[in-house]
Amino acid sequence: MGSRCASHEDVTPIHYSARVKISVIGCGYLGAVHAACMAELGHDVVGVDIDAAKIASLSAGIAPFFEPGLPEKLGSALATGRLSFTTDFAAVAGARVHFVAVGTPQLPDSYAADLRFVDAAFAAIAPHLALGDLVVGKSTVPVGTAERLALEVEKYGARLAWNPEFLREGFAVKDTISPDRLVYGVRAGDAASVADLDEVYAAAIAAGTPRVVTDFATAELVKVAANAFLATKISFINAMAEVAEATGADVTQLADAIGYDARIGRRFLNAGLGFGGGCLPKDIRGFMARAEELGVDQALGFLREVDSINLRRRERMVDLAREVCGGDVAGKHIAVFGLAFKPDSDDVRDSPALDVAAKLAELGAQVLATDPHAIETSRRIRPQLTYVEDPLEAARGADAVLVLTEWKQYRELDPDALGSVVKHRAIVDGRNCLDPEVWRSAGWTYRALGRP
Ligand code: UDX
Repeated sequence: MGSRCASHEDVTPIHYSARVKISVIGCGYLGAVHAACMAELGHDVVGVDIDAAKIASLSAGIAPFFEPGLPEKLGSALATGRLSFTTDFAAVAGARVHFVAVGTPQLPDSYAADLRFVDAAFAAIAPHLALGDLVVGKSTVPVGTAERLALEVEKYGARLAWNPEFLREGFAVKDTISPDRLVYGVRAGDAASVADLDEVYAAAIAAGTPRVVTDFATAELVKVAANAFLATKISFINAMAEVAEATGADVTQLADAIGYDARIGRRFLNAGLGFGGGCLPKDIRGFMARAEELGVDQALGFLREVDSINLRRRERMVDLAREVCGGDVAGKHIAVFGLAFKPDSDDVRDSPALDVAAKLAELGAQVLATDPHAIETSRRIRPQLTYVEDPLEAARGADAVLVLTEWKQYRELDPDALGSVVKHRAIVDGRNCLDPEVWRSAGWTYRALGRP
């Protein structure tokens, strides 16, 4: 079902001779893409996961989640016979490089990361490790974890490397085959692990991808530092949006103007509903929790503010919905366009859009929510909301329309076609993805975050 887009077609892999036997433990967003792409690059790959339904789906060439380009890569890699999936951990025996790509969610009762799945994965593969095997951690973990796990695998005569992953959902295939950098955290002087990873990533290295070889702690920190920086950049522009709202300024023009400064750059300066997903929110919280344990919590105090700014945008969105509904949303029909945490994904983990939809429903609004790919994933965690496939149906008779995820289909909405089905022409643009002039001239009340 994956839509084809140019960026995914641009990453035709360069095939090369070295063929490494690889296992990938954990076949979620990260592991499934990694396994398919490594096989596509010419390696022999077995993917292992405890979820039998996921393994059955992947074995049949069906991606268990929406990721553009993945179904094609799965199909072609399975057809070569170099890729297989199983729930049997014994299948990792015989592989020389074992990637651990399981999730590290936030613990329910604290900011810290839950390492249960990482520890279980290492315990499950340990009995199958052979002398000289390389275990490669890809999961995002609190700094210090790799050192502890290295001691475990070294008991079996194996080695550990930490090789963080920077893939973005929606671009996961491209980011895996053509990463913008490779980071290897290894023990001092461990040339063998560096050589093994170079063999695995030979295509990317041949293409000139920068490679940083460092210690475990730095490699672990690179990942959380990168995500903390990205989250800070988004919250910075959203803080400017708050100031813009108080002054009548336009945050999108402000972002354009400061973004022309090459030291600042325009990317990740889109003000709106803020960040969500399976990484940024929990990674900054996990980072704060770890800093506290290390006694350097002051150093990351600013991340608390980054988190607060981010969550305040959701409240502001509810306020704008209230305003366009005449002061109260109770009993009002609100069409919510977009549930995924960002376009080209069906992921609704910590999704600002789904959160706003749920808050409005709690306030008594009749919410009709739609999304091109995230209805099923939303229904699983918010079964009480009403979901409609067709946006025009969701908007029929609506008092207000809220655009909460900037899917292409919503950016290209026709104000007249939508205007002919709603009760009131009122739209709130939660992602600054619509042209206010176009909507206002079609008779709509247009409101947005951070612009007049
Ligand atoms: C992120 C990192 O980008 C990636 O390197 C890391 O490996 C995993 O976490 P991802 O979660 O896929 O990737 O999403 P990303 O594209 O970074 O977007 C995160 C969130 O920020 C989304 O909710 C998005 O809507 C929001 N965002 C992004 C903004 O609000 N404004 C922006 O300018 C950019």
